[in-house]
Amino acid sequence: SEPAFPRRGGVLHAEQVPIPAIAAAVGTPTYVYSANTIRARLLRLEQAFASVPHRIHFAMKANSNLAVLRLLHELGAGVDIVSGGELFRAREAGFIGRDVVFSGVGKTVREIEQALEERVLLINVESEAELVTIDAVAGRQGVVAPIAIRVNPEVTVDTPHAYIKTGEKGQKFGIPRDDVARLVAMVHELPHVALRGLGMHLGSQIGNADPMRDALPRLLSAIASARADGHAIAYMDVGGGLAVPYHADEGDADVDDYAEIVLAAARETGLTLLLEPGRFLVAEAGALITEVLYRKHAAGKDFIVTDAGMNDLVRPALYQAYHRIDAVESIEGTVVADVVGPICESGDFYAKDRPMPDVSAGALLAVQTAGAYGYTMSSNYNSRPRPAEVMVDGDRFAVITERERLEDLVRHERAHLQWRTA
Ligand code: LLP
Repeated sequence: SEPAFPRRGGVLHAEQVPIPAIAAAVGTPTYVYSANTIRARLLRLEQAFASVPHRIHFAMKANSNLAVLRLLHELGAGVDIVSGGELFRAREAGFIGRDVVFSGVGKTVREIEQALEERVLLINVESEAELVTIDAVAGRQGVVAPIAIRVNPEVTVDTPHAYIKTGEKGQKFGIPRDDVARLVAMVHELPHVALRGLGMHLGSQIGNADPMRDALPRLLSAIASARADGHAIAYMDVGGGLAVPYHADEGDADVDDYAEIVLAAARETGLTLLLEPGRFLVAEAGALITEVLYRKHAAGKDFIVTDAGMNDLVRPALYQAYHRIDAVESIEGTVVADVVGPICESGDFYAKDRPMPDVSAGALLAVQTAGAYGYTMSSNYNSRPRPAEVMVDGDRFAVITERERLEDLVRHERAHLQWRTA
C-alpha cells in the first residue's frame, strides 16, 4: 500500500498534502497522521485473521485521539483499555461496552464500577485480590462480571528495551502459570464473576513469532483446564505486541507467520480470538513535524536544535528508541549531528551522531513512526504546551487536537490558596 509520507518533487507529503502547508497552517511541533495508513494496517490484520471468529481491540494507549478512535470504530475495531480515562474516551468516540476489553494491573474500584456499568466485554484479571474486588463490586451492582484471566506465560521475549517486556517471569503482569489453576477454581466460589476467557500479552515490539510459538501451548493448556473445571470459556486473547520497522533497513513484522500460529491455536480451541495490537495499527501512520530552530557547533560536534523535545515525543529519551528523521524539503549535503530538543536535560535528543541532511534554521523535519506512544506519552515538562495533532485523508487535512495554550498549563493550579484544616 501507499506510504503514509511519500516524497513528491522533493517535498515530503502526508498522503497528498504537502507537509509545509500543514506546518504553515497549524505551526510546529505537530503530529500528523495518515487515515489511509491506519485503514490499510487494520485491513491487513483483518485479512490475516479472517478465517476464524475474531475481534481486533486496538490498544488505545498507543494513540487515544478521538478522531483516530472514531476512524477505527467506523472500521469495526474494538478497543483494549487500561483506565477509566480510556473508557471515557472510547465512549466519546462511539464505542459501546461490548467493544471494550479492560486490561491493567491496577484497576480502581471506581474504574471497575464504570466498566461494569458500561457492560464491557471482558475485564482481564491480573491478581487474586483484583478478582475478589471485581466480585464484590459486581455483587453490589447485582450483576455478574465477565472476566478473563491474564496468564503470564513466562516466556523469554526479545524486545528492544527492558521496559516493554511484559510476558516474562518476575514481571508485575498477569497471573504466574502455577497460580492460574487456583484462580480458575476460585471463580466457582465467587457468585458475581464468570470466567469467559483466558489471555496473555507477551510484550511490545516483538519482531518474530518465536515467543508466540512458545507461549501459545501454555495458554492452550490453561484454557483446557479451565474448561475441564466447568467454565464456559468463549474467548482467547493473545494480546498485542506486533513490531513495526523503525529503521530504514528493517522489514515489517511477519504478520502471516504470526497469524498462522495463532490461527492454528484458535481453531484448536474453537474460541473467539481477541487481538490487542496498538503500535501495529498506528505507528507508521504518524510523524512528528518539527522546525529546526538553530544549528550549533560545539566541542567538535554538530547539533540540530528542534522546536520539539522529549516532552512531545519521549521514546528516544525513555527507551533509547530509534526514529528515522527526514528533512521535509530535500537538500544536498549531509552532516553527522545530534538532533536535540529545547529541554534542559541531556536525555532530550532525537538522534545521536547520525548522518543527517545538512538543514538550516527554519527547515522542517519529520520524526517518523511516531503515531504510536507519541502524543499519548507527551507531557508539559518545562511548561511546554503539548503539540497539535492533524489527520490527513487523501488531499484534505483536519486539526484533531488543538495545540495547547499557555492558559492550559495552569488551568488546574491555584496561586491563591484556600487553606483547610484536617
Ligand atoms: N495489550 C496489553 C495488555 C498491553 O500492555 C499492551 C502494551 C498492548 C496490548 C499493546 O502493545 P503494542 O501492540 O502496542 O506493542 N510505551 C512503549 C510501549 C508500551 C507498551 C505497553 N503495553 C513504547 O513506546 O514502545
